Amino acid sequence: MALALPRRESVLAWLSDRVPAARIKHILGVEQVAGDLARHYGLDEAKARSAGLLHDLAKYFKPQLLLQIAAAEGLELDSVLEAHPHLLHADASAIVARAEFGVVDREILEAIANHTLGRPNMSQLSCTVFIADTIEPSRGNTAELEALRQASVQNLYAAVWQTCDYSLKSLLENRCYIHPRSVLTRNWALQMARSKETGNSTRESIAACNQTGL
Ligand SMILES: [Fe+2]
Ligand SMILES: [Fe+2]
Repeated sequence: MALALPRRESVLAWLSDRVPAARIKHILGVEQVAGDLARHYGLDEAKARSAGLLHDLAKYFKPQLLLQIAAAEGLELDSVLEAHPHLLHADASAIVARAEFGVVDREILEAIANHTLGRPNMSQLSCTVFIADTIEPSRGNTAELEALRQASVQNLYAAVWQTCDYSLKSLLENRCYIHPRSVLTRNWALQMARSKETGNSTRESIAACNQTGL
């Protein structure tokens, strides 16, 4: 039996009290693009849309509250998360989705929790939300974003590593801290894209990189 998804109107009403209009526009964009990508790749469109709608529930929670939620949930913190509790809004949004809207579907909860840093071996549904967070229409129309949008319908994993590169580049340019999981996600997605392209195993893809010194 399919698990019930939260009512869209209830989520939107909750968001409208806590999130500025510009962010709601972004959230609706993520809902739409994640759903489109899911349909394109033969995944569960309703679940992708739901994860997109819920992904930024905790976006405007104060750092102290995010740290409290993380502690209550027993999340492991590292120095980057402690210095930048805002990064916890992804995990916190999944916790709020469960507590406020009764979401129990693991794949949806994981897609929400993975939307900022990704995670090696994350599901394809998580990949759709991760990519949608960066390429949804209100993010703009730069050449780089347009290239990402094209990549997103060609190869899901290639789009994940290119999304990681796009974000990492901006973090480097702005001298921001980089969470190690972003790098792990990027390397995993690159391997997945390469092994899909060549039919090689992940181990063979890494060996090929080592040989070429890339
Ligand atoms: Fe977010
Ligand atoms: Fe977002």
